[in-house]
Amino acid sequence: MTRVLFVCLGNICRSPLAEGVFRAHVERAGLADRFEIDSAGTAGYHVGEAPDPRSVSIAHKHGVDLSAQRARKLVAADLERFDEVLAMDQSNLANIRRLAGPRSSARTGLFLDEVPGSSGAEVPDPYYGGPNGFLHVYRLVDEASERLLARLRG
Ligand code: 4NP
Repeated sequence: MTRVLFVCLGNICRSPLAEGVFRAHVERAGLADRFEIDSAGTAGYHVGEAPDPRSVSIAHKHGVDLSAQRARKLVAADLERFDEVLAMDQSNLANIRRLAGPRSSARTGLFLDEVPGSSGAEVPDPYYGGPNGFLHVYRLVDEASERLLARLRG
C-alpha cells in the first residue's frame, strides 16, 4: 500500500483537485487497491467544507467527482502515516516541514517536482482569480498525477 497526501493552504481548491485527479489516474490504471489517497490544508479556515465550486466544476468537466471530499487540517500524525506528502507551493512545503517531528517518515516535496523541467515550480493559488485559474490548476495537477503514478508504480 502506498499512502499519498496532497497539501495546499485551505484544502478547498488545489489539493482536493489533486486528490481527485490522482485517484482517477490510479483507478484508470486498475491500481485502486494499492493506494490510499487524501488531501489536507495547512490552514484551518475551511475545515469541514466541501471543495470550492470552481474546483468541483472543472473536475466534473473532466469526469472527476470531488463531491465526497471535506476539508481538513494537516496534523503532525499525517507525516507518520503517509508515505508521500506533496505540497502545491513552497509556503505549503515549509509549513509541512515545520510540523515534522522525530517520527515523521514521509517523503515531502513539491507536487510539480514530478514533472520534468518543472522542478521548484508551484501550483498557483486560484482562490482570488477567475475560472481560468482553475483550468490551469487542473492541467498542472493532471500532468503531475500522471508522472507521480509512473514513479510510484515503479
Ligand atoms: P487552496 O486555496 O489552498 O488551493 O485551497 C485557498 C483557499 C482558501 C484560501 C486561500 C487559498 N483562503 O484564504 O481562505
